[in-house]
Amino acid sequence: ASPLRIAVLAGDGIGQEVVPEGLRVLDAAARRFGIALQLDHFDFASCDYYLRHGEMLPANWKEQIGGHDAILFGAVGWPQTVPDHVSLWGSLLQFRREFDQYVNLRPAKLMPGVHAPLIKRDGSAYAPGEIDMLIVRENTEGEYSSIGGRMFAGTEREVVIQETVMSRIGVDRVLRYAFELARSRPRKHLTSATKSNGISITMPYWDERVQAMSADYPDVMRDQFHIDILTAHFVQRPHTFDVVVASNLFGDILSDLGPACCGTIGIAPSANLNPERRFPSLFEPVHGSAPDIAGKGIANPIAQIWSAALMLDFLGHREAHDAILRAIETVLAPKSGAPRTPDLGGTATTADLGRAVAECI
Ligand code: NAD
Ligand code: IPM
Ligand code: MN
Repeated sequence: ASPLRIAVLAGDGIGQEVVPEGLRVLDAAARRFGIALQLDHFDFASCDYYLRHGEMLPANWKEQIGGHDAILFGAVGWPQTVPDHVSLWGSLLQFRREFDQYVNLRPAKLMPGVHAPLIKRDGSAYAPGEIDMLIVRENTEGEYSSIGGRMFAGTEREVVIQETVMSRIGVDRVLRYAFELARSRPRKHLTSATKSNGISITMPYWDERVQAMSADYPDVMRDQFHIDILTAHFVQRPHTFDVVVASNLFGDILSDLGPACCGTIGIAPSANLNPERRFPSLFEPVHGSAPDIAGKGIANPIAQIWSAALMLDFLGHREAHDAILRAIETVLAPKSGAPRTPDLGGTATTADLGRAVAECI
């Protein structure tokens, strides 16, 4: 078989530290399951590249990575040198939009050996696996729109506007994905995040499309909450959520909150999917470049490793995905004696933890 062609973009900060661990585990899984890989490394989509070239991406970036089977991505952003909106709109957000990665799938699961910061109402602890949700974030439109502008700049009449955009195709396709996903899970439960009480045009539209589509899914139990109280429910009863579908901004917020409810954002993966496979999908941790710990070699690499597993799954290698997940669970298990990074309460390095996972494959 021809090799899987993976474009690797490590980006900034801890992206440079966790991507090698993702590749270490990817390599171990590829050997075990006889998967041929071709890894092509690119230095663009980083603030270093920006400082050298005055832009985040080369003009022909789509030709360079658009033909790959998938993109393995680290993190972008180094606000000390490049404003975040310049670096992110110049790279990651371009990939999501131009490659039409309209589903951002973000699991949040309480793993063995990771302490949840939350307890149940009766005072007892959550057991591993008891919190297990999939956040489906709309990833190409919504609140992340480039429609708007600044008027009367620099005067006291200054006004800034940024429009929220929801198209019927854009809303329906991500809802369809979420309903199908909910249907495939044992609990068959879909929660929609809304704010149709205050955001009076786009959010009622979102609710209307959810309602319309639910007719096709009578077997899926459906509820919806305004985003404000939904964040409270995440904290007070995270175990009751299964699939949660949300607009771009609400999904962004929920996908840091969900993993934080499971102990650390350092293990949370994400899959930016173009389900039709017309373009490459992109797999990256939920977290960013973490300038506060970058360069110290202590970032947790599991979010990156799990993202690589999601990539293998999407590319048809379910058994390799499952083996990586089992290796992560084995290493995290309380009695494994395996190294733990500081966010997991230990003193191990990024490479220690990456090696431990790779050895379990
Ligand atoms: P962040 O996710 O980088 O960091 C938030 C906190 O979590 C920090 O204290 C950090 O040390 C910790 N953390 C994050 N990942 C960790 C890991 N793997 N192991 C242990 N601790 C970890 O969020 P931020 O500080 O808001 O953003 C920093 C930069 O990253 C900004 O430039 C931001 O725009 C960018 N960012 C990029 C992405 C992305 O590329 N997808 C995502 C989020 C933020
Ligand atoms: C994420 C990040 C990005 C987002 C930022 C860095 C633009 O927070 O992937 O969750 O908001 O989508
Ligand atoms: Mn985010």
